[in-house]
Amino acid sequence: MALLASASLYLPSAAHTSSDLSGEETISATFHDEKDGSTRTVQVPVGQSLMEAAHANDIDLEGACEGSLACSTCHIVIEDPELYAKLEEPNDDENDMLDLAYGLTETSRLGCQVIAAPELDGIKVRIPGATRNFAVDGYKPKPH
Ligand code: FES
Repeated sequence: MALLASASLYLPSAAHTSSDLSGEETISATFHDEKDGSTRTVQVPVGQSLMEAAHANDIDLEGACEGSLACSTCHIVIEDPELYAKLEEPNDDENDMLDLAYGLTETSRLGCQVIAAPELDGIKVRIPGATRNFAVDGYKPKPH
C-alpha cells in the first residue's frame, strides 16, 4: 500500500487530465455524409481536427488545401447549435472561405478548423452533398 502511494508521486501532474496513461484522450464524433447517406461514429484524439479525423477513418470529407484555409472543401455543418456555440469563433480567413461554401448554414464550419476538445464529445456533423472549390474545380491543364 505504502509502495503504491509513493509510486503515484512520480506521475506527472499533467497526466491526470488524460483518460488513459498513453496520453491519448479521445472524443466521439459522428459524421453524416449527405452524398451517400452514410453515418459513422469515430473516436477522435483531442487536438486533432475533424478533417484529419475524417481522413484517418476513410470518411469522404475533402480537404483540398490540407487545412491551410485556402478552400472550402472541408465544409461541415455542426448539427447541435449548443455545441456549435462552444467552438471558438471562426477567424476572418475561415469566414472568407465559408462564404464560398456550397449550402452554407448558421452552424457551418470548416472541418480543418474544428479541433477536438473534451467539451465537444458526442459532436455530430453533416457533410454537405456538394463542395465548391474555385482553386481546383475547373482547372484543366492544357498542352501548349
Ligand atoms: S482543407 Fe482547405 S480550408 Fe480546410
